[in-house]
Amino acid sequence: MATRKPAPPAFVCTECGWTTAKWVGRCGECQQWGTVSEQAAPTGILRRMTPLAPHADRAARPITQITTEDAPRRTSGVGEFDRVLGGGIVPGAAILLSGEPGVGKSTLLLEVAAQSARAGRRVLYASAEESPAQVRLRAERTGALHDELYLASETDLATILGHIDEVRPQLVIVDSVQTVSSSLSEGAAGQPSQVREVAATLIRVAKERSLPIIIVGHVTKDGQVAGPRVLEHLVDVVCHFEGDRQTSLRFIRALKNRFGPTDEVGCFEMTGGGIAEVPDPSGLFLSQGATEPGTCVAIALEGKRALPVEVQALTIPSTAPNPRRVVHGLDASRVAMVLAILEKRAGIKTSMLDVYVSTVGGVRFTEPAADLAIAVAVAGSVQLNSVPRTVAAVGELSLAGEIRPVTQAAQRRSEAARLGYEQVVDDRSKTLRAALDDVRARNTSRRPDGEIPPF
Ligand code: TYD
Ligand code: MG
Repeated sequence: MATRKPAPPAFVCTECGWTTAKWVGRCGECQQWGTVSEQAAPTGILRRMTPLAPHADRAARPITQITTEDAPRRTSGVGEFDRVLGGGIVPGAAILLSGEPGVGKSTLLLEVAAQSARAGRRVLYASAEESPAQVRLRAERTGALHDELYLASETDLATILGHIDEVRPQLVIVDSVQTVSSSLSEGAAGQPSQVREVAATLIRVAKERSLPIIIVGHVTKDGQVAGPRVLEHLVDVVCHFEGDRQTSLRFIRALKNRFGPTDEVGCFEMTGGGIAEVPDPSGLFLSQGATEPGTCVAIALEGKRALPVEVQALTIPSTAPNPRRVVHGLDASRVAMVLAILEKRAGIKTSMLDVYVSTVGGVRFTEPAADLAIAVAVAGSVQLNSVPRTVAAVGELSLAGEIRPVTQAAQRRSEAARLGYEQVVDDRSKTLRAALDDVRARNTSRRPDGEIPPF
């Protein structure tokens, strides 16, 4: 008896490509609602495609004969943004700027627009979220008024294309892709099919006219760009704008960059008068004033940048059956591990103490390279021993109490030297115990009885 082949799945998720034989409201793979739709049945006929002769100036050429002069970079006018883009904006580049609501995407792009306008390049800022009056008010506040900066408040894609034709800009900003809709696609703005259509059209215009386009993309609660994942494949550069609501500091990272490295980080500060670049963020994560027992500076890596980050620890006798462990900005499980290593390998007991460990300035520092600084800070708090301002500690701890080398150690060391940290306690000390002795030997602060306290 001949077995029948199973029928091909007829429904497919527009988000992730998951297929199913029956329609369901929610994708079984990516768990998105309303993204499963019917697939056109395969016709079964293999049609032949007639090859077309390529246009003379589009002929395939040996790679060695291709000049790169076609792709000169232009500065965006904002140095920290250029750094993330790999040196500037490449003509025809489609750049997606993602970030949570309120993080400052519109403020940054208004600044980029104003700087480009000042450099004599006309900019079209198509805002589908705010009225021109709202944008103008903001521009007045942040000093971004310029005659070459054109505003259009538009949610229809075709009309935005019309504005591009009329204004003939050299840079287009669309804020945001989720609020623009195309009449060629069904559904409301923001739905995956709409987002894909809008982005694909804008990208095609960018390529055809060598016109750089910056597209704002909202992110969902879990930090993904809302809309189809395919959006990130379509564009040339994906930049993510991030920052803590409680602090004014913002970072931009390139998650994807067809024109440059992805390990660069741009640093900004939100101020009353707009967004300000922070080209040297090294002082931001350090406390001011005298060194207290229980603090230690580590050198963290943000992308390619080495930044000093101060780790602070406070320990007090606990009254609770389970002593408290409160951790801010660091990895709580790594802190727990460091406390265990301190107790077992260096004889510094914290099991009867409440331990509070935090970074300064709200920065997140979850690298293993923070281990040694956490250990020195906690040991300092337990034994009332302060670390001189000129000492930084960088190292990962093994459970055996050894110090392991960290990634890009040379870079961290040279940044530490540049910033005036005369000694870096690191894996040259070999063990945690030796490192704590080393710090103690450098300690010049004495207790009232004149003794240098033991570590
Ligand atoms: P915005 O650029 O509108 O965010 P997004 O476009 O990412 O949603 O920024 C809004 C936040 O930025 C708002 O909470 C206030 C703050 N902000 C400043 O701190 N300074 C400023 O000059 C401006 C315009 C905004
Ligand atoms: Mg906005």
